[in-house]
Amino acid sequence: MELKKQELPEQTIHFWYCDFNKNRAKLEPYYALLSEDEKARSGRFKFDRDKECYIISRGILRLLLAGYSKQQPQDLHFDYTPYGKPFLSHDNAIKFNISHSGNMAVFAFVRNEEIGIDVERIKDDFDLLELAQSFFSTKEILALEKQSKKDLPRAFYRCWTRKESFIKAEGSGLSFPLDQFAVSLENDEQAELLYTQWDSQEKEHWQLFSYVPARAYIAAVAIRSRTLGFHQYNWDA
Ligand code: COA
Ligand code: MG
Repeated sequence: MELKKQELPEQTIHFWYCDFNKNRAKLEPYYALLSEDEKARSGRFKFDRDKECYIISRGILRLLLAGYSKQQPQDLHFDYTPYGKPFLSHDNAIKFNISHSGNMAVFAFVRNEEIGIDVERIKDDFDLLELAQSFFSTKEILALEKQSKKDLPRAFYRCWTRKESFIKAEGSGLSFPLDQFAVSLENDEQAELLYTQWDSQEKEHWQLFSYVPARAYIAAVAIRSRTLGFHQYNWDA
């Protein structure tokens, strides 16, 4: 399998995305890169589709990390935080996070800082406002209520992915109170942490990014650091 031998400079986020449909033909070589526990986990998925997504995204994750850390993809060893966030057990410097939704997987890499990423396929087959009213902050609910019917789904998922990337950078999973912090949601470009209820200074430490990897998808990256460069790469290019 092809290693993407890239440098990961300090103060730089590398964002990668891939389309599962363009990688299904390489399922077997990806599977061969996985550890025994990953292979076992892939065998426990109920649906073939979920199993394939898991194998492809872990295979690509290993190839990308191998390129950055100058190791063989099979030799990488993952550990997990108590909340399930994977990290490299033998390399503290390279941090990463992954997410998948629909046909898309996304990956974020950075040196030394905890990072979170989320991607969602934009859907409107349920009551988006009702969900927002149950879980989001008052500021976000008010901003979403101002959206036209046409703009609401995109705005909702901008908000969702920015919030989830923040939670995934924190690493504490769903125990995190979604209504106690707010993110911007007006447009794809300006991603921002607006406030956190527990500390008025916290927002000064964070940078959020949004990226549209394909029509009908939106992704976000969160990192507790400022002045980082953000570079996007298409795995399938
Ligand atoms: N923190 C950060 N990353 C985590 C994690 C954690 N606690 N636990 C797992 N991950 C990583 C894993 O690599 C996982 O992929 P893998 O199992 O194939 O290796 C990946 O994140 C899954 O991310 P995603 O595709 O975005 O899945 P999800 O949206 O279903 O789950 C979690 C996100 C992991 C944070 C989970 O706690 C969850 O169930 N969230 C529900 C979604 C939600 O309510 N979000 C609120 C948005 S406003
Ligand atoms: Mg998600």
